[in-house]
Amino acid sequence: MVKKRACVFISGAGTNLKSIINYSRDYNFPININLIISNNKSAKGIYFAKKFSIPHKIINQTRDQFEKIAIKELRNRKIDLICLAGFMKVLTKNFIRNFNGKIVNIHPSLLPKYKGLNTYKRAIEKGDKLFGCTVHYVNEKLDSGKIIIKKRVHIANAETVEKLKKKVQVEEYKAYAIAIRKIYNLN
Ligand code: GAR
Repeated sequence: MVKKRACVFISGAGTNLKSIINYSRDYNFPININLIISNNKSAKGIYFAKKFSIPHKIINQTRDQFEKIAIKELRNRKIDLICLAGFMKVLTKNFIRNFNGKIVNIHPSLLPKYKGLNTYKRAIEKGDKLFGCTVHYVNEKLDSGKIIIKKRVHIANAETVEKLKKKVQVEEYKAYAIAIRKIYNLN
């Protein structure tokens, strides 16, 4: 299989990145990770770029500068797919148009519920019983692009943000892998 070339954008711990790297090492997985971009020089996830010898770029600048440099890097490395994995900067319309249909994101909620931040806390406070994560295409509206897959978890009676986050993240790793296969019409 000729693998597609992917870039993962991170801002933090990078546990989704780590999981995607692990999947991508499988011959039958449709992408290779050819680039990792972090907007945060202290992001723990940068460690995984180093560990797996994947080219990485830290772009710790204003949004316009960030995007200018990122676009150049993405073009130079002929990136086919951009996976946002805990990337906490909102991309401009211009950037999204440049990679139309080629950017996907993982969000900690069952979209369209709880767009934006603090999703765990909001769902617990609302008394929801079901929660989860969504992988979706990125369009010009925050957390609103076409949904590729959702994974559900139950909210326990005495749920805490920390425990819920742990439960959801286990599902996130599976969801991202399934979504990437789905994008390239594999099951
Ligand atoms: C993930 O749980 C992801 O759903 C969330 O950030 C976390 C990053 O964890 N993304 C968002 O909130 C995007 N709005 P990670 O760095 O360990 O993968």
